[in-house]
Amino acid sequence: MVVWQGYRMHILVTGGAGFIGSHLVDRFLAEGFRVRILDNFATGRRENLAHLANEPRAELFEGDIRKLGDLAKACRGIDVISHQAAIPSVPRSVAEPVLTHETNVDGTFNLLMAAREAKVKRVTFAASSSAYGDVEQSPKVETIRPQPKSPYAIHKLVGEYYMNVFAKQFGLPTVALRYFNVFGPRQDPTSQYSAVIPAFITRMLAGKAPTIYGDGQQSRDFTFIENVKQANFLAATAAKVNGEVVNVATGRQISLLQMVDLINKMLGTNLKATHEPERAGDVKHSLADIRAAETLLGYRVIVPFDEGLRLTMEHYRDLAKQGKK
Ligand SMILES: NC(=O)c1ccc[n+]([C@@H]2O[C@H](COP(=O)([O-])OP(=O)(O)OC[C@H]3O[C@@H](n4cnc5c(N)ncnc54)[C@H](O)[C@@H]3O)[C@@H](O)[C@H]2O)c1
Repeated sequence: MVVWQGYRMHILVTGGAGFIGSHLVDRFLAEGFRVRILDNFATGRRENLAHLANEPRAELFEGDIRKLGDLAKACRGIDVISHQAAIPSVPRSVAEPVLTHETNVDGTFNLLMAAREAKVKRVTFAASSSAYGDVEQSPKVETIRPQPKSPYAIHKLVGEYYMNVFAKQFGLPTVALRYFNVFGPRQDPTSQYSAVIPAFITRMLAGKAPTIYGDGQQSRDFTFIENVKQANFLAATAAKVNGEVVNVATGRQISLLQMVDLINKMLGTNLKATHEPERAGDVKHSLADIRAAETLLGYRVIVPFDEGLRLTMEHYRDLAKQGKK
């Protein structure tokens, strides 16, 4: 591995103040990288970076991926970009299609232009399993024709296509990681667009029934954050990438009703979910084939679902004890 001036490589993490991005920052620092964070705090939180206040290898650059000038500055001297910044919500993309398009599509395109200009050596991209939509075939393999059902799914798919074209046409190595429902500590449980696991856990810890949109039979390949960190580290350091798209998941499927049961067991409670109508754009089932990530990146699941759920529960329990969310 090449060592530059005492650090392994200089990586830019866009969206580094967010849930996933901040975990990636920690992992890259632990691997001996120097890390620059680009974030406008649209959905990210300063608390996610508070522990880095005295870390000399971490630098915060407050800026917006919708602005080319900000990206040009943020890309200076960077070896690899881990592009996580986005407004990452299916319902929000339905409610606010313009803002989310500008961030997720134009922002990603701007980032690639700036990366190319700055002669960055590689870009890795946070893609999404939502690209598959309601494709019947299961597990979902990357060769399936995507059927995006929401503006958000289209945004993420456009990002993948751009990644591929920049690799093939402009010689900028890229790889897109299609995350499947990531969960873990630091995920925001308070927004109306919150992901299901932190929303369920925080309600159930407070003795309240979780709300399920639909019948609860819908299932997901819930992926604990440690696995996503691993995939991103491998993607940043793999010998060669060239515009590929790979699923990042566990290859296991859990329904929302099963999850409520599991949380009840862990808490020793017997809370029953209340049901609301299905939400626009939500897909019914989602399970990944993870062989492409295994082959291309040497990816393996390192923390299975139940263990991840237990760790996440402990995190939110600690926060509740401290009176925080
Ligand atoms: N969480 C999941 O399950 C999941 C699944 C698939 C894909 N993804 C993708 O992973 C990435 C990270 O998601 P997350 O769950 O950590 O969400 P998050 O909202 O916690 O993180 C997104 C970050 O991007 C920042 N951001 C938004 N707009 C920006 C802008 N214009 N300029 C600069 N920064 C901006 C936000 O402030 C935030 O810190 C996103 O690209 C998302 O689409 C997430």
